[in-house]
Amino acid sequence: MISGSRSSLPGASAHGIRVRSLVPEDLSYVMELERQGHPHPWPESTFADCFRPDYRLWAAESNGALLGYAVVAYMVDDAHLLNICVSPDARGQGVGRLLLNYLIDAARNDSMDQVILEVRVSNYRAIALYLSEGFVEIGRRAGYYPDGAGREDARVMAVRFT
Ligand SMILES: CC(C)(COP(=O)(O)OP(=O)(O)OC[C@H]1O[C@@H](n2cnc3c(N)ncnc32)[C@H](O)[C@@H]1OP(=O)(O)O)[C@@H](O)C(=O)NCCC(=O)NCCS
Repeated sequence: MISGSRSSLPGASAHGIRVRSLVPEDLSYVMELERQGHPHPWPESTFADCFRPDYRLWAAESNGALLGYAVVAYMVDDAHLLNICVSPDARGQGVGRLLLNYLIDAARNDSMDQVILEVRVSNYRAIALYLSEGFVEIGRRAGYYPDGAGREDARVMAVRFT
């Protein structure tokens, strides 16, 4: 467990784990984690499309190994968290919280009004993390996610700065 994992930009680090910008050279490692982390992983082309000025892509690494990543799109005044994922081997040790704190601080520093996200209603782990960092539910999107042959609802959550 990482203690004191609140970020203090730039390059927040805790116990040898640091946050830096994700770069295109990380993509093969990202895709490994993505396939392990999500029931419906993004294709590599979707990540490649995110290397744009209005996106922020963050990597958590330790000794050169990618432990997790987050993808945030800046849409007018909203920082939209599109993806956050931690290697199964590194979960439960504070890496997700480190990344989340980092991207929240970055969004605040970039004068965003809020961080907003969707999360599967069944994703209790992620929901517990978001609630503990001050996110509140602001709505639901029915059938937002594919789920086998059916669909699953999303909770829409946000943390406001203003
Ligand atoms: C959600 C995710 C990013 C969390 O990353 P993580 O590094 O494991 O999280 P942390 O170790 O920082 O834990 C933060 C909080 O998450 C919750 N959590 C973590 N592991 C948990 C577990 N096994 N059971 C229940 N809650 C858990 C807890 O609230 C925890 O806080 P605590 O340690 O103070 O109790 C990670 O589980 C993951 O990559 N999941 C697959 C991808 C995904 O679902 N992404 C979110 C899409 S919206």
